[in-house]
Amino acid sequence: MYSDLQNRSTAAARPERDLEVVVADRQVVADGVVLLDLQDPDGEVLPAWEAGAHIDLVLPNGLVRQYSLCGEPQDRQSWRVAVLRESDGRGGSKFIHDELRVGGTVRVRGPRNHFPLVPAQRYVFIAGGIGITPLIPMMTAASSGGADWQLIYGGRSLTSMAFVEQLVAEHADSVAVRPQDTFGLLNLDALLGGPGGLSDGTLVYCCGPGPLIDAVEQRCTGLPTGLLRVERFAPADASEPVLHGSFEVQIASTGEALTVSPEESVLEVLRCNGIDIDASCEEGTCGTCETRVLDGQIDHRDFVLTAAEREQNALMMVCVSRAACPRVVLDL
Ligand SMILES: Cc1cc2nc3c(=O)[nH]c(=O)nc-3n(C[C@H](O)[C@H](O)[C@H](O)COP(=O)(O)OP(=O)(O)OC[C@H]3O[C@@H](n4cnc5c(N)ncnc54)[C@H](O)[C@@H]3O)c2cc1C
Ligand code: FES
Repeated sequence: MYSDLQNRSTAAARPERDLEVVVADRQVVADGVVLLDLQDPDGEVLPAWEAGAHIDLVLPNGLVRQYSLCGEPQDRQSWRVAVLRESDGRGGSKFIHDELRVGGTVRVRGPRNHFPLVPAQRYVFIAGGIGITPLIPMMTAASSGGADWQLIYGGRSLTSMAFVEQLVAEHADSVAVRPQDTFGLLNLDALLGGPGGLSDGTLVYCCGPGPLIDAVEQRCTGLPTGLLRVERFAPADASEPVLHGSFEVQIASTGEALTVSPEESVLEVLRCNGIDIDASCEEGTCGTCETRVLDGQIDHRDFVLTAAEREQNALMMVCVSRAACPRVVLDL
């Protein structure tokens, strides 16, 4: 049995150094999707990464947004990200579409990986729309490792779905492209078939819109923990979190104990007390603020940790998660 912490690329929220990269290429690869090639301005190699990793784009308008790396990990000269324009969003993807041109520069952080490809004999990959991005290098890695895999890829229409030509050209026998305007919703029952419907040694990886992930999670209820891996690009539920009583956070390096009231997040209290923590989404989806827990039970409210990781209580996302006991000790 593998460890759920295996392959994770970070475990603490100490501030990371930003890198500046230049946009070396920009292509429109589907309706509303641009593919950017990012390179070091001096041609230096970029930090290594593995399938499932993402980077933060630190935008000049003050927004920080996450994008999955969808190129080849072996290519250390270039990082590729594909960005969907979210017209009703707060402006991150609009800025990237409208302002980031070839030759322009942007600051990045990472890579970071909360969606690692765990070794398995067989994989079922399920993608919806732009959720295809982290799965692209996973399919390459699965093929190189000799694993059997299949992809079912849905989207609103064929023209809105990035990378279809490339996927079909490279893996015609393993890829099922299912645009909704032609095929309707993905047939998850046929794919997952309920308990017993997946052969032994199969892992399921899913990324896409919230309703697709919810439906896949629902069909995988009752399957062994760790068999399904998902990555959400946005929180599952936008409702206001329920805040219970106060609790204490102890800083392991100094012994200082800080009180977190029901109105505050752990992240806010740490920052107010001069403890610098990297954070980005501040809504529990990106994993940037992941912090090691040395003692105490956590009320996990993020969308990053797996069920097994939650049970281990070794990590917490301090932007949203809280203590489920009077005091937690953080490795800070
Ligand atoms: C690990 C990870 C990897 C990702 N990889 C990719 C990728 O490869 N490609 C990609 O295109 N995107 C990816 N994303 C999503 C990306 O980081 C951005 O969230 C996305 O580009 C939208 O940013 P935005 O600022 O344009 O919109 P946001 O303001 O973030 O809005 C996104 C959606 O949230 C809703 N919304 C609007 N206002 C608010 C508000 N005030 N609060 C909360 N929600 C609101 C809207 O419905 C909107 O469509 C990833 C996210 C994560 C966490
Ligand atoms: S800042 Fe994104 S999970 Fe906490």
